[in-house]
Amino acid sequence: MSEKLQSINLNKIPNHIAVIMDGNGRWAKNKGMQRVFGHKNALTAVREAVAGASEIGSKFITLYAFSTENWKRPKLEVDTLMGLLISSLKKELPDFHKNGIKVNSIGALEQLPKKAQKVLQHVIDETSKNTKITLTFALSYGSREEIVNAIKNISKKVVNNEIDIKKIDEKIINNHLYTFNLPDVDLMIRTSGEQRISNFLLWQMAYAELYFTDVLWPDFRKDHLFDAILDYQNRERRFGKTSEQIDTNG
Ligand code: IPE
Ligand code: IPE
Ligand code: MG
Repeated sequence: MSEKLQSINLNKIPNHIAVIMDGNGRWAKNKGMQRVFGHKNALTAVREAVAGASEIGSKFITLYAFSTENWKRPKLEVDTLMGLLISSLKKELPDFHKNGIKVNSIGALEQLPKKAQKVLQHVIDETSKNTKITLTFALSYGSREEIVNAIKNISKKVVNNEIDIKKIDEKIINNHLYTFNLPDVDLMIRTSGEQRISNFLLWQMAYAELYFTDVLWPDFRKDHLFDAILDYQNRERRFGKTSEQIDTNG
């Protein structure tokens, strides 16, 4: 068993971990290869991150796999990513079952190629009864677009007298986001040394702890996740209160 895993306090585990899986292109370039080679070598890292999160008892892990902005990349790269999405989902389905993984997705899924939508829906349906951990793929996801959609949908309901404007609160907004069935993010990890959010879960990360590592995504392993967890466990989440209040009230 990993030494790092043994140092983790199992009573202080982030319930929801979100990951910006970044650095595939640079990983490939470092090896003198094309960018897509990095994407093709990213699956092990995905498996390790999910297995690690599951081992420590996190109930939710959300992976940023493709942003609304990523559609602007060269066609070859976009096509390769969509192809990998389809083949990886198919390949991993038996392991999702074996490991109790429930698959979920967020984003403008209607923008994905039909084939990808179909495979994704199949995997979501097939794994819907699994309960160990919920694995959410953010695909064609953009947080601003998500918020715009929520506002449109809430406005429609106001116009149709389904929602009273005075009753609009954080809960109603939450319920109209792609993440309506997910809790707030506790820990956000970004690989590759970039220290930004890149339009990921802006609302849901309001009080998340942020962790940045220089590791490039294809090199990410369980022990890197455990490093992030150990760092998280050394932080004091105050949610606006004072340190003294946290000490006495827990
Ligand atoms: C992350 O790696 C994967 C996706 C955004 C799909 P990148 O492809 O962004 O890799 P870098 O940041 O260019 O190294
Ligand atoms: C963010 O990474 C999106 C994903 C990891 C899917 P990018 O590499 O696209 O982000 P920027 O453009 O460098 O901010
Ligand atoms: Mg990048």
